[in-house]
Amino acid sequence: MTPEERSKRVQTMFSRIAGRYDLMNRVMTGGRDIAWRRAAVRELNLPANGQCLDLATGTGDLAFAVLERYPDAKVVGMDFSEGILRGAVKKSHERAETRTAWGVGDALALPYDDAQFDGLTNGFLLRNVVDLPRCLRELRRVTKPGGKVVCLEITHPQTPIFKQLFHVYFYKMVPIIGGIISGDPQAYSYLPNSLSLFPPAKPLLQKFREAGYRDAYYKTLGLGTMAIHVGVA
Ligand SMILES: C[S@@+](CC[C@H](N)C(=O)[O-])C[C@H]1O[C@@H](n2cnc3c(N)ncnc32)[C@H](O)[C@@H]1O
Repeated sequence: MTPEERSKRVQTMFSRIAGRYDLMNRVMTGGRDIAWRRAAVRELNLPANGQCLDLATGTGDLAFAVLERYPDAKVVGMDFSEGILRGAVKKSHERAETRTAWGVGDALALPYDDAQFDGLTNGFLLRNVVDLPRCLRELRRVTKPGGKVVCLEITHPQTPIFKQLFHVYFYKMVPIIGGIISGDPQAYSYLPNSLSLFPPAKPLLQKFREAGYRDAYYKTLGLGTMAIHVGVA
């Protein structure tokens, strides 16, 4: 499969599972995904009336978490799957939210000039992109110098026994549970596959440095199954 074909496949897959996406997140994580997004937002340091780009916004939960912490901020939520983005737009209407704007766009070629945003967030994007170094450079490009890029993503737990338990859960049980709830077994087989090809937290940090970020660091949470990587543009 070419990178273009893989990218298209990811795009259509997220549109297909959009209707059950939030439910699946809550079930798979026991509701912890909400706390993980809040933890990621705590690493962001938006100035007063700052503007944040939440990339790969999906159904918008990370964008709304930014607004919860920064009530005077404006957030642009962008995703390349129109189908899943509709979930974010719907939530925004239901909440009569005026601080959000939504748009379709690819993380590998963002429709923005350099240094447009005071900060940038993304949840569960990096594992999905077909060119990680290019994506990291693109996120840095659209962020103002000194602004933070905060990335929340699943990672490979390192504790020996827990590592094995996680392996059984994530690689064996999640595809079954996800397939039943979403009605799309293929999508939830993709999930563990995408992690198996993704770099562990330390090598990923190195990629941030190579992409030109200053003061890059990461934190793990969720018993080492989640990582928040942060870099200053
Ligand atoms: C697992 S969902 C995460 C959604 C949301 N950030 C959250 O916290 O639940 C991954 C999202 O990344 C989007 N995505 C993947 N590759 C992308 C790309 N190259 N550009 C923009 N969005 C992308 C998908 O369409 C999908 O909505």
